[in-house]
Amino acid sequence: MNMSIADIRKDYTLKSLSENDVLHNPVQQFEIWWNEAVNSEIDEVNAMTLATVKANHSPVARMVLLKDFSTDGFTFFTNYLSAKGEQLFTNPNAAICFFWKELQRQVRIEGVVENVSEQVSDDYFNSRPIGSKLGAWASPQSKVVASRSILEENEKNYSKEFGNDIKRPAHWGGYILKPNYFEFWQGRSNRLHDRICYTLEKNEWLTARLAP
Ligand SMILES: Cc1cc2nc3c(=O)[nH]c(=O)nc-3n(C[C@H](O)[C@H](O)[C@H](O)COP(=O)(O)O)c2cc1C
Repeated sequence: MNMSIADIRKDYTLKSLSENDVLHNPVQQFEIWWNEAVNSEIDEVNAMTLATVKANHSPVARMVLLKDFSTDGFTFFTNYLSAKGEQLFTNPNAAICFFWKELQRQVRIEGVVENVSEQVSDDYFNSRPIGSKLGAWASPQSKVVASRSILEENEKNYSKEFGNDIKRPAHWGGYILKPNYFEFWQGRSNRLHDRICYTLEKNEWLTARLAP
């Protein structure tokens, strides 16, 4: 049977979120939700939407993988010469968004990105499987390529050149998003969802409830 898109909807009844329950520090609050998400065995729990801003001020979004978080910020890795890399170079404001549907939760984080240190990028690159390391060399990310075979040829050539000793290309590394805004969203019944946000004012995190 064909279902109309407009008829797809779900009522959220699993949990609630109160301003009285959230922690003072949003990173610690994130850690609680993160651990619950990991324990729920959500597939690709670290997948997040990353939004950046183009030079003409229009927004652009794509998925990336969260690779670390702490009170310093939220880290992901990519090609510094990619479209997102160019956008972040020109405008370091960015937002990330997680949807953990099994828990009926969304987390939105906004902030400013910085490059991580060479050491952090090296350490993560060196931990990657050999195929991923080669991929970082073989793919001029976001550039137009005439065919897939060019990428496969690149991969073969770099594999021959480097053998098992594959160093991180200088154009590949990490960004850390330093947050100035968080929002924790818990789906509730009848679209009256719970939304608790944190804004950073004079180095203090202030919380508020937002209408859904
Ligand atoms: C689940 C998922 C995870 C991804 N993780 C990454 C990642 O960690 N880093 C990355 O550069 N691209 C990742 N990608 C690919 C990006 O979405 C995107 O296609 C690529 O980075 C090029 O984006 P850009 O042209 O906007 O720079 C991922 C895609 C998906 C679907």
